Amino acid sequence: LTEELVVNKSLSDNEKYELLFLQLKSLIDKTDNVISTLSNIGAAIKQTFDKVSWVGFYLFDGENLFLGPFQGKIACTKIKPGKGVCGTSAFKRETIIVPDVNEFPGHIACDPDSKSEIVVPIIKPDGELFGVLDLDSSSYNSFNEIDKLHLEKIITFLTEEIL
Ligand code: SME
Repeated sequence: LTEELVVNKSLSDNEKYELLFLQLKSLIDKTDNVISTLSNIGAAIKQTFDKVSWVGFYLFDGENLFLGPFQGKIACTKIKPGKGVCGTSAFKRETIIVPDVNEFPGHIACDPDSKSEIVVPIIKPDGELFGVLDLDSSSYNSFNEIDKLHLEKIITFLTEEIL
């Protein structure tokens, strides 16, 4: 399946997300440690999209968001809720699409190549904040409502299955 995604560059993002979702459904195993599962979700997203330069999870420890499993360059290890795109998404509990990071007040520049990003909050079934999923791109305007729709679907599946 992954090979098919890599060779077939003509797939739309929508189609790529549909294949990715099937892949994740077969990949996610409730008996695995959650860190292992998050690691593979990140890898699957990175393998699917050339536009993604960095993908990873920031996890909430009750005080800060700390760096979890990720793919890409070295990143900030701690983000306060309410700070940056990740902290704002966690605080507001809503997905944030940033077409141009220069225009997001308080954006935390972990990677100078990052030009646009999308952050999806992860809320446990009991209502507690678990963390966020962060995707970055080295091009402007890389993420839109299609990404939001599908990434939220993946996160809902994740929370229902394993959190
Ligand atoms: N840009 C993010 C910080 C995390 S990194 O991009 C990996 C933010 O403003 O929250």
